[in-house]
Amino acid sequence: MQTITRIADLRDVVTDWRLGRQSIAFVPTMGNLHLGHASLMAAAHLHGRRVISSIFVNPLQFGPSEDFSAYPRTPDDDGNLLREYGVDALFQPTVEEMYPQGSAGSTVIDVPGLTDVLCGAFRPGHFQGVATVVVKLLCLVQPDVAIFGEKDYQQLTVIRRVVQDLNLPVTIVGAPTVRAEDGLALSSRNRYLSAQERAMAPSIYRALDQARRRLEAGETAYASIEAEGLASIGAAGITPDFFEIRTAARLERPTELDVHLVVLAAGRLGKARLIDNLQCTAPVRE
Ligand code: PAF
Repeated sequence: MQTITRIADLRDVVTDWRLGRQSIAFVPTMGNLHLGHASLMAAAHLHGRRVISSIFVNPLQFGPSEDFSAYPRTPDDDGNLLREYGVDALFQPTVEEMYPQGSAGSTVIDVPGLTDVLCGAFRPGHFQGVATVVVKLLCLVQPDVAIFGEKDYQQLTVIRRVVQDLNLPVTIVGAPTVRAEDGLALSSRNRYLSAQERAMAPSIYRALDQARRRLEAGETAYASIEAEGLASIGAAGITPDFFEIRTAARLERPTELDVHLVVLAAGRLGKARLIDNLQCTAPVRE
């Protein structure tokens, strides 16, 4: 595996692959890799002859009171895992390499109505930061396919929309969420949980699953389903940010005729902010 830190070197590697007509699959990450990332790399191997990953903790997507400096950085373990996953190249730039003018005055990408709702309402600027760095990375790596986890469902929706709106020549693939046996979605931020909090955390998945059952049974009393979800997360000791039912494709509020839905929840538990979602298909109504 080649580790590349400079944009100029990345361009040389990518140009060689392209001249050799080798398809490229790309998995952007912020490092601290876990089994969830392994599934993204496995998906990448299905889509590209060459697999490239990036590790970049992007300052632009962290708010002033968020965990940018404390975000877990484990470069040695990550490098070993990426080698194990058969990744051809790792792009691991510095902040200065990505934002030579400084991240504060950077051009940003905004998707009104999508970057400012749900998690975006609680983390102002977060999805603009994600969209901006992802577009920069896609321009640099020029992959045929880029893989993102469905666990960050709103992020995936924002990225699909940006790629469509800006006509970027890449196919975005969503990879299913990897869960612990008790249902908790794997996330780098789970390491912030104490043993007691870790035992409480799966309640978010259980509440989502209960909502999914009600939707799949044909219930359309969305407000009541959301209220039950909020209450059950709260009763389990998680301070909820939201528990909402949205359309799966555009994250809009559903009407009774929408069948492809997603239930999204976020809440705070100790030092961690947990997010999760479940997609479901409601019965078709005439
Ligand atoms: O999901 C992540 O790890 C990050 O948000 C991403 C997509 C790598 C952009 O920094």
